Amino acid sequence: RQLVPPSLSAKVEGSFAYLTVRDRLPTILTRVIDTIHRNKNKFFEEFGEEGVQAEKRTIGFLSKLRNELLTDKPVLVLCDGLEDTDSWNQYLQRQQRLLGERDPVSWFKSPWLYIECYMYRRIQEAIWLNPPISDFDVFNESKTQSFFESQQAVISLCTYLQGFNRNMDDLSETQLMEQFHKLLQVSLWGNRCDLSISAGMENSQKASPIDSLCDLKSFILVDDSNMVWSALTSAQRPGEDGKTTPGRVDIVLDNAGFELVTDLVLANFLVSAGLAREVRFHGKSIPWFVSDVTSHDFQWTIRQTLAANHKWMSKSGVQWQSYVREGVWSYHDHPFWTMPHEYCDMAGDAPDLYATLQGADLILFKGDLNYRKLTGDREWDHMVPFDRALRGFGPAPLCSLRTLKANIQVGLQPGQGENLNTQDPSWMTSGKYAVVQFSSPHRE
Ligand code: F6P
Ligand code: MG
Repeated sequence: RQLVPPSLSAKVEGSFAYLTVRDRLPTILTRVIDTIHRNKNKFFEEFGEEGVQAEKRTIGFLSKLRNELLTDKPVLVLCDGLEDTDSWNQYLQRQQRLLGERDPVSWFKSPWLYIECYMYRRIQEAIWLNPPISDFDVFNESKTQSFFESQQAVISLCTYLQGFNRNMDDLSETQLMEQFHKLLQVSLWGNRCDLSISAGMENSQKASPIDSLCDLKSFILVDDSNMVWSALTSAQRPGEDGKTTPGRVDIVLDNAGFELVTDLVLANFLVSAGLAREVRFHGKSIPWFVSDVTSHDFQWTIRQTLAANHKWMSKSGVQWQSYVREGVWSYHDHPFWTMPHEYCDMAGDAPDLYATLQGADLILFKGDLNYRKLTGDREWDHMVPFDRALRGFGPAPLCSLRTLKANIQVGLQPGQGENLNTQDPSWMTSGKYAVVQFSSPHRE
């Protein structure tokens, strides 16, 4: 077994992990508390005095949580008795064993990935333990607002999609490939619009996404998109009727709002261009990292698009709705996506999910958090190959589409990291740079 570097952690003072735990996470918690408080009247209208009492208790839980974080208290076991509670508590024991018995596992001393996931799970515990408001999504307002603020960009993207959908039959193989590259990049840059890096502040897409691609190209540090194209085309099998049948693409979603629209547009293109016969979307089963997609967000986004007062936008929504109805598209969630594990643990800790993913011909992992989990959120050297950082994770050919928002990056050329450090010291955390990194289980 090769040695693996340590996990990124807030124990390194001044690091991005440290600043996140010290500043960004408490800000997010404060916003959550404000949101619940602002909805007091709504809870009263829906549930009467019981709703108001639940609001007060939830705020009490969350204020305590905020205090635990700010004063670096030991991490507490979960006690909400849900499907994943035991796994979370076992994970805490695992962290305790790694740390040794002398110090308790605490907010600033543990792996950043674990602690950040734990905070979102504790927010959910506070809500769950307080019926009748247990279904309230504390991030819903921010997610819907960010969708509406990106409206012009959504319209221009849907108009673009419908334009080539009408001319699809006239496209040559080269033109098809060019469109694929464009829409893959749109989906890549869509990942800039997440509400976790901005600590819940507005972060929507204003510019027309297609027009900016050319200017953004030089900010893609690793671009394996040709390999993604090859994975798609080589998944095409001759069917009994002589026609070719394309493969199945799984998209492990990240953020709702503009990013989700870019993913749906890409998925629409893959199906209508005959590059995928089926697309499975994987989302979160609880509100997560502020803007991540839940089943409600997925359905809501399609309904909003469908009901839009714009011809091409609503036509796109109609198309997406029918893909869902026909089962060409499907939405799935699994508790593992909201656990703190590195993905190299998936085969052992969530074998059912691993087996499901093995049925895909290509898996697209969207966003920064997925990248952190793919690579274990560790202090890897920048030149370590992506395949090695995956540590055996490879249910199917996979590709990470990620804008850089955490100080981890592997698979760079010699000198590339050093040059970036000199040119732009915040290159790993500003969201200005991106990677398209591919790995196939069959590759050396
Ligand atoms: O807050 C930390 C963080 O994990 C950052 O690494 C990243 O900015 C964000 O949350 C999540 O980003 P994404 O939505 O791209 O997964
Ligand atoms: Mg996210």
